Amino acid sequence: MNFITATAQFIEQKFADEGSGHDWAHIRRVWLMARRLAVGAAEADAEVTELAALLHDIADWKFHDGDYEAGPRAAREWLRSLGADETLIARVETVIREVSFKGLGVATPVTSIEAALVQDADRLDAIGAIGIARAFAYGGHKGRPLHDPAVAPVAHDSFASYQKNAAPTLNHFYEKLLHLKDRLNTEGARQVAEERHRFMETYVARFLAEWDGVD
Ligand code: ADP
Ligand code: NI
Repeated sequence: MNFITATAQFIEQKFADEGSGHDWAHIRRVWLMARRLAVGAAEADAEVTELAALLHDIADWKFHDGDYEAGPRAAREWLRSLGADETLIARVETVIREVSFKGLGVATPVTSIEAALVQDADRLDAIGAIGIARAFAYGGHKGRPLHDPAVAPVAHDSFASYQKNAAPTLNHFYEKLLHLKDRLNTEGARQVAEERHRFMETYVARFLAEWDGVD
């Protein structure tokens, strides 16, 4: 079995019952979207792109006491167990390290085309109809209110302050989701983002109109 198929099966099994927004369905979409975006990037290495997409959430810092190296470490261990060579492992690890959003005021540069594709694919899954569902699923998982007009959104300028954030879920739209379309790397992703972004803007406007029961 090749590394990609083996990794897809491993991750599908590992994330089957995950309900926080990092489920297999999310990872599968990121994998498919990264492949779709890669069509316009002939120079991208398909194996690095697909393995990194499949492994990008293997051990998210949010569920590992903020340990930002947990993901790359778990990916490395898995790929070593498959007998992958160290060069491939290092390239996948680097992509995983670069994927995550770390706060509105924190730059998240990518150093490879493969990281650009996986970061874009992951961000596209955080916006649009699915993105809205994932945000409220995550907020519910954390026991947060949907919205509180008294709590102002914050443009987190450090990863530490973004990690500590416990604001109502609607704030997350202003602190991240509505900005993602301007933080994409590839033209293909920007095209996909357009419709999803518009839908989210419409959604937030309706949400606020209904909030006071006067729409
Ligand atoms: P990324 O995929 O950029 O690494 P995360 O792993 O931080 O993003 O987030 C995973 C999912 O959970 C995304 O859909 C994201 O929007 C959502 N999420 C993260 N933090 C919050 C939050 N504070 N409130 C609501 N949803 C959140
Ligand atoms: Ni993800």
